[in-house]
Order: sequence, then C-alpha cells, then structure tokens
Amino acid sequence: MSHLEQSSTSPQIEFRNVTKMYGSVAAVKDLSMSVGRGEFLTILGPSGSGKTTALMLLAGFAMPTKGDILISGKSMAEVPSYRRDQGIVFQNYALFPHLTVRRNLEFPLEMRGVNATKRAKRVDSILARVHLSDFGHRMPSQLSGGQQQRIALARALVADPPILLLDEPLGALDRNLREQMQIEIKNLHREMRKTTICVTHDQEEALTLSDRIVVMRSGHIEQTGAPETLYDRPATRFVANFLGEANFLASLGTKVCADEDQPPHTVAMIRPERVSIASASDPGHTGAERFQSVTGKVEDMIYAGSLRKYNVRVGGNLLIVREHVASGKQVFAPEDEVKLNWLRSDVRFVAE
Ligand SMILES: Nc1ncnc2c1ncn2[C@@H]1O[C@H](COP(=O)(O)OP(=O)(O)O)[C@@H](O)[C@H]1O
Ligand SMILES: [Mg+2]
Repeated sequence: MSHLEQSSTSPQIEFRNVTKMYGSVAAVKDLSMSVGRGEFLTILGPSGSGKTTALMLLAGFAMPTKGDILISGKSMAEVPSYRRDQGIVFQNYALFPHLTVRRNLEFPLEMRGVNATKRAKRVDSILARVHLSDFGHRMPSQLSGGQQQRIALARALVADPPILLLDEPLGALDRNLREQMQIEIKNLHREMRKTTICVTHDQEEALTLSDRIVVMRSGHIEQTGAPETLYDRPATRFVANFLGEANFLASLGTKVCADEDQPPHTVAMIRPERVSIASASDPGHTGAERFQSVTGKVEDMIYAGSLRKYNVRVGGNLLIVREHVASGKQVFAPEDEVKLNWLRSDVRFVAE
C-alpha cells in the first residue's frame, strides 16, 4: 500500500474545528484538517495568517480555545507537550550554544532515558544522515548557518519521533543554501518517512517540498491540495496570487471575457507562462477558436537568464508574459506593439 492510500484511511494528525483566540483576535478559526501517516504537508500563508499558532497548538505549547487535536486517533487535550513525541525545528535553530554538537544531539535522548551506548550509536547514525559525521566535537558557533540548521534537523530526528514539525526552517538562510537544504529535507523525508508539517510563507519552498499544501489566510484555510493542483487550479484570487504571478482578465473587454462557461462571482485568470508574445502584425494561430488574443504595447522587458519577462499594457491592464529564452525567438523592447495569445483551455476561473 502506498503512503497516500494509507493516509486516506488512517490520518495521523487531525485538527477538528480548532479555534485559538488571543484576546479578541482569532489567530486560528475553526480549522479542520488531517495529515496522513508519512505525508509531507506544508502550511503556507502570509505573515500573521495563523501558521505558527496551528503548529504550537499541535506541539502542545498552546491550547485550543475550541475544538480538538488528535494524534493517531487520540485527543491531545490532556497530553502535555513533552509527551507528544514530536521533533521540532524552529527558524532560529535554537541549538544550545554552550554544548557541543554531540551533546546537543544527545540531549533529547537523555530526556527519554536512553543509555549512553545507545545514545552514541543514535548520534553517529543521525550525524551521518545529515552528512556531518566529523562535526560532533564542534560548538554551534563553529558551524555555518546551513550546518547549524542541519544539526537542528538532526536533533529533531535523533529520538526517532513519528512526527516532525518545521516552522520556517530555512527562513534564516540565503537563497543557494535554502535550495540545498530543500533537497536535504526532501531526501530525509524520502528515507525516514516521518509525518511532517512544515510552516512557510515561501511559495516556492511549499511547491518543492510538499505532498500537499494548506493555504491559510487570516486564520482559516483558503484551499488545500497537491502543489500542482493549487498552482494550476487555484480556487480563489488569493491562492492564485499567493502561489505565483497571475494575470486577471476581467477588464480586457467582452471579446476575451465572454465565456459561457464562466461561473458567477469568478474572475478569469491566466498564468504568465501560458501567454505567448508575438509581433502585432503576426497573423495569429490557425484553429483560432481555441485561442484568445489581445494586442498591446510592451512597457518593460526584464531579462533573467533563462527567462524573459514582459510587462505588456493592454488597455488599462498590465499583463505579464514569461517566456523561456531560446534561439530563434523574437525579442521585444519597450514601446513595441505586440499580440498576446493563449489557449482558451489555459484560462482558469477563480472566486473573487
Ligand atoms: N501569543 C500571542 N499573543 C497574542 N497574539 C498572538 C500570539 N501569537 C500569535 N498571535 C496573533 O495571532 C495571529 C497569527 O499569528 P501567527 O500564528 O504567529 O501567524 P504566522 O505564523 O502565520 O505569521 C497574529 O495576528 C498574531 O499577532
Ligand atoms: Mg510564524
């Protein structure tokens, strides 16, 4: 049985109508979700949307005002945080600065009463997994940011908890390091299959790492789905915007917008990479009914190595076009008159 089939039958973590009030502010509002055994779920949302609160409730560092959280079918209402058997990594690593790497890693094992021989074995094994076998004797201050974060991950995993919680784990790292660490986290998840909840405001990180993403907004869930589903079939304007760049076609005129398939209270949206750009004199596509096209004027062209990004003024709108750089492709400059084409079937209708 694949882990996805398992997850649909026996959720390991369940939030049931969980609300957390801070004074009159609902940090989390009527949140219901479940996470399957071995699943990698990311909670994605802007700052203040309730992501950390959801994680703190699960970890037992805060208690729900209403609702319940279950782990393996058991209510956590009476279970203190130290008995929840979860590994946790925070953004600022929080290694003990006065202890060596080895002693940092032994700490969770000592707390659980594991004897010295077993501790040494476990620490060796987890250090090897994060490729830092030779670093056991160092102090945290003698490690780079990326190495510190790998040790923080190792410390969360060393006692072999079934659940791993990550709160903006890569937030303090620079871009290159972040990408390396994403691969490292993905590999660790593939090998160890811990049920993982990761919190981030970084859409690229969420798309890269997750089996499933929960998009949060002001304490509630806006949409849940696989990365591709959320990117390609966003349910709302908020999700469309949060998971990447989006062109909204509402005011382009009836020629483009008139579509008998469009549900009420929705707006038409197309991703920039689904739009192609051609000279205004281009005869257009054959099989024209499958395409929509508009003419406009290039306002900016941004060259980004493998991509060119155009901002094109179409009436009162600015549409974004993203094209892969390839030989033989015509390049346009500001003030050029252009025609934009896209497939009707690439247009999505999202709720306002
Ligand atoms: N301990 C707290 N006391 C009061 N308000 C809090 C506390 N923790 C979070 N909040 C409020 O709850 C909301 C959600 O915060 P948080 O869960 O930290 O969001 P995120 O992690 O998505 O940035 C915010 O409005 C925040 O100010
Ligand atoms: Mg947070």
